[in-house]
Amino acid sequence: MAEKIILTGDRPTGRLHVGHYVGSLRERVRLQDSGEFDKVFIMIADAQALTDNAENPDKVRKNIIEVALDYLACGLDPAKTTIFVQSMVPQLTELTFYYMNLVTVARVQRNPTVKNEIKMRNFEASIPVGFFCYPISQAADITAFKATTVPVGEDQEPMLEQCREIVHKFNSVYGPTLTMPEIVLPSNDACMRLPGIDGKAKMSKSLGNCIYLSDPADVVKKKIMSMYTDPNHVRVEDPGQIEGNCVFTYLDAFCKPEHFAKYLPDYENLDALKAHYQRGGLGDVKVKKFLIKVLEETLSPIRERRHMWEARIPEVYEILRKGSEVAAAAAAETLHDVRDAMRINYFDDQELMNQPYEQQL
Ligand code: TRP
Repeated sequence: MAEKIILTGDRPTGRLHVGHYVGSLRERVRLQDSGEFDKVFIMIADAQALTDNAENPDKVRKNIIEVALDYLACGLDPAKTTIFVQSMVPQLTELTFYYMNLVTVARVQRNPTVKNEIKMRNFEASIPVGFFCYPISQAADITAFKATTVPVGEDQEPMLEQCREIVHKFNSVYGPTLTMPEIVLPSNDACMRLPGIDGKAKMSKSLGNCIYLSDPADVVKKKIMSMYTDPNHVRVEDPGQIEGNCVFTYLDAFCKPEHFAKYLPDYENLDALKAHYQRGGLGDVKVKKFLIKVLEETLSPIRERRHMWEARIPEVYEILRKGSEVAAAAAAETLHDVRDAMRINYFDDQELMNQPYEQQL
């Protein structure tokens, strides 16, 4: 049977937050521990981060360790998962260069995630070529490891689509070589797009609306107490709205049935809590205090593990260094296959090298 292989990763542009956790990290740890996969690769995408941070190399540099610590804190286990740094695997750049020939400019321009990012960064008239090509480099990341499974947030769907097109095109032009990957999205709606604490669409560092995995307990508490709810729910007796109320969105993402018996035994489950809120008579503070307990159950072990690794920084870099070596060896195998398929393997081809000139033509 063909191997089952995971590849995914994050740009090191900031510490990871609870949106990353429910959108992807939690699932990665589950998949890592499921025993269903032969190999798991998790990449810190520094080269991709540089595509729109060329002038901020120090930002990228310092966030390598932040992201690595967040990974280890969440339970990614270097004994089961190869954690590595993208730029330490130069084979990825070479693959990207070959794949560029298989993609049109118009196709990248239609990529909705790229379109959106160009708008957000005000790049319109001055898009760096490297940034424009990052969906192609992402296809290199995925195919280099023969990934069958790519667990990511929904914003990455267009990247996977583009990658699949490249695989299809490569295999039809050069013969079957690359593995076709499948995307794995988070399983519930709240996890697909966890809003920021201000109720805005998405958590983002620039909006200052994130709860970070590394936030201390008192900071998390303060952030939850300031969370956006239903602006028309003024008095406790007033009926409240669940839709767009991020306290409930977070509960959808984090709450488990057993949390009620433990922290809020007056309610059977989340539906009962929601029904009471909608009827009126349930105050925001009570729901927020419950959310703090629920969230702390996830965050406090993460925080503890992070502190443990923060005291062992040289070991963390060593994990990345070894992981990058393993990753480079895996990517080198694929690159070898790619060069064969593309007929640019001249010096491996004794027959070619020994053929008389008349037969070279
Ligand atoms: N684009 C991803 C992000 O912004 C990071 C990434 C780079 C990635 N290469 C990848 C994700 C390959 C999955 C597969 O977080």
